[in-house]
Amino acid sequence: MRKEVVLITGANGEIGHGLISHIAEKEKTHVLALDVMPLDESLRPMCERFIQGDILDQMLLGRLVAEYEIRTIYHLASILSTKAEYNPETAHKVNVEGTLNLLRLAVEQATWQGKPVKFLYPSSIAVYGIPDLQTKNSSNKINEEMWCQPTTMYGCNKLYCEQLGRYYTKYYRQLAADRNSSGIDFRALRFPGLISAITTPTGGTSDYGPEMLHHAAMGKKYRCFVRPDTRLPFMVMPDAIKALLDLEKADKGDLSKLVYNVTSFNPSAQEFYNIVIEAFPNAEISFEPDIARQGIVDTWPADVDDTSAKNDWGWNPEFDQDRAFYEYLIPAVKARYT
Ligand code: SER
Repeated sequence: MRKEVVLITGANGEIGHGLISHIAEKEKTHVLALDVMPLDESLRPMCERFIQGDILDQMLLGRLVAEYEIRTIYHLASILSTKAEYNPETAHKVNVEGTLNLLRLAVEQATWQGKPVKFLYPSSIAVYGIPDLQTKNSSNKINEEMWCQPTTMYGCNKLYCEQLGRYYTKYYRQLAADRNSSGIDFRALRFPGLISAITTPTGGTSDYGPEMLHHAAMGKKYRCFVRPDTRLPFMVMPDAIKALLDLEKADKGDLSKLVYNVTSFNPSAQEFYNIVIEAFPNAEISFEPDIARQGIVDTWPADVDDTSAKNDWGWNPEFDQDRAFYEYLIPAVKARYT
């Protein structure tokens, strides 16, 4: 008998860390972890198995089908927005072809098992592309249908993969004489900037938030690459994990969308700074905007409307801004670096 598992790609990334720890602690589920990089030693005992490999390696993915019964896929592997701009074609390969490979694997799994395979996909506020700063500043909360004109390769990749998820769920091989449902139950979250006390992001454009905090806690100088008035939605990692798990557990009949905004709080970079400097009075933080990265952030919404997630599957973040900083981030980073 093949062992029942959940597959987590990008397992060694920020969300992977949080998700694996949570599943190991709270759920009776075996985790099959996949990443191109080695998995942190601390996470290994929490996984049924770790495979170091590439989501572009179709032979590798094929072997997984033979060995495991995959109930749910958390497809977290991705090249983030800043890094993707340095090599857009590679980013496209990893972000889009990689996702296509995982969707294909999910179809095969569902066919073998004769039941749907859930496909959880972290999308992003990067799918939005607001045309100018004046429009950003005068807009109310942005809902899922507005301004879907991304200006980054990463944003284009995320938006297109949402569409692929919709295609596989609803229209897969729609002209085939022997047409069956693909068996994929695709569910996506458009995450805001994520902040973890345990890990730091690599290659994102919302990274100024977490970087400011972690540098201050480490006693390192930080040059913030956006203007003080820059505003983006954010969420702490425990809430991002909660969102993924809550959406996974939701009844399909309750879901009116395949893709949901989720958010928690949205400080300006100045407000972020004020909180960090209060907690770490000796921190050396300066604002030195990088015009190009600032340009990307200026196309992302200052806030998003997550009413659908609240109404459909009861989304409710546990950490508002005060709780996030004073009960989670600041005590945890202080403990981590001292
Ligand atoms: N945090 C991501 C980035 O900055 C957006 O999803 O790339």
